[in-house]
Amino acid sequence: MNESRPASMSSFWMPFTNNRDFKANPRLLVSAAGMYYKDVDGNTVLDGTAGLWCVPCGHAQPKIVAAVREMVGQLDFAPTFQMGHPAAFDLAEKLMDYTGRRFGHVFYTNSGSEAVDTALKMALAYHRARGEAGRTRLIGRERGYHGVGFGGISVGGIGGNRRTFGPLLPGVDHLPHTHNLEKNAYSRGEPEHGANLADELERIVALHDASTIAAVIVEPVAGSTGVLIPPKGYLKRLRELCSKHGILLIFDEVITGFGRLATPFAFDYFGVVPDMVTCAKGLTNGMVPMGAVFTQQHIHDAFMDGPAGIELFHGYTYSGHPLACAAALATLEVFEEQNILDNAKAVQQYWTDAVHSLKGLPHVIDIRTIGLVAGIELAPIDGKPGARAFSAFKKAFADGVLIRTTGDIIALSPPLVLEKKHIDELFGKLATILNNLD
Ligand SMILES: Cc1ncc(COP(=O)(O)O)c(C=O)c1O
Repeated sequence: MNESRPASMSSFWMPFTNNRDFKANPRLLVSAAGMYYKDVDGNTVLDGTAGLWCVPCGHAQPKIVAAVREMVGQLDFAPTFQMGHPAAFDLAEKLMDYTGRRFGHVFYTNSGSEAVDTALKMALAYHRARGEAGRTRLIGRERGYHGVGFGGISVGGIGGNRRTFGPLLPGVDHLPHTHNLEKNAYSRGEPEHGANLADELERIVALHDASTIAAVIVEPVAGSTGVLIPPKGYLKRLRELCSKHGILLIFDEVITGFGRLATPFAFDYFGVVPDMVTCAKGLTNGMVPMGAVFTQQHIHDAFMDGPAGIELFHGYTYSGHPLACAAALATLEVFEEQNILDNAKAVQQYWTDAVHSLKGLPHVIDIRTIGLVAGIELAPIDGKPGARAFSAFKKAFADGVLIRTTGDIIALSPPLVLEKKHIDELFGKLATILNNLD
């Protein structure tokens, strides 16, 4: 393994990165185990973000590593177009069990972005298969993040991700976001105010007519725009309105799936079941790229009751890749054998109290928590949005903790195997950083 600095860093065009800034002062990770990374200088870095929200069982989890190693020697690749391999079918059954059989079928992708685009395409094709081809409109939400495909950025609501990429998909509308600092600051769990914002769907229906609307997609908890937690009753109301108007509801659970809220999925936590779920990240413990769309039985039926032949003209070369299936099967086993959710539940209160203990530190204007997620919002530096939190991120890395920032919000989402001592280390260092931040 190469643990030294690369000879040149110029050719790799890094994603979602200030390339010039990074390459002037790089942060290079060379190995990982459990709760920690090791950087190129041999420093340990506590992982406060599960990589990118994707390592619930901790890094280099031995059982998952072994399963991937075994599979790569046995079946390196197998197509899933008009072919198959057993692990893809076994995994689908186990995943459906993991949803408590509230979903009947799984479509595999390789990322969250692909899962989102797949779900949006399925929604359109579903309505068409049922004779409602006029339902083509897609509804997202302001400040939503649904990956970077053209579908995902069209329904997504982050200006920076959209504005340089042309007209995007036609026929897309957006619900308002639910973030309200005046009314909901320093909330623990679901904030009190804002369920009525779901009623904005009625306004959109009145404008376009329900017969033109295929689906609404939301993140149950918006992660990438800084941990926006749904107000009490909001998701339930959205579910009711979608059902009333024959609109499919899609939950994008790419970050909330696989235990982030100390429940298998966010739909378990909120008690609101959508028609489709997109997931990725924790599905394979981040070890092999994989995403998935779960559909309820009625969606699948609409296709299987149609004309004979290929029912959905969609799929990826690597849909159901053997290594990804092996990693995902082992991840589900680890969740069960190691009681990952129980650990998340056990440390949740300690985590919540530790995050909220930062209240009152310089620049902190809000703290919000749910499950093992936290958003710490900082006041921006005048004329330099995002600069303050990014400076915290750099200082944190130098001090041996990995945090994530979006705008001026610090978003934390540690591996679910963390212990109290990790929480103490994380927030001890973060408090020092905030106390010394310009
Ligand atoms: C809610 C949500 N949807 C979709 C995605 C995109 O996933 P990927 O980066 O695997 O394409 C992300 C990534 O963070 C996400 O948070």
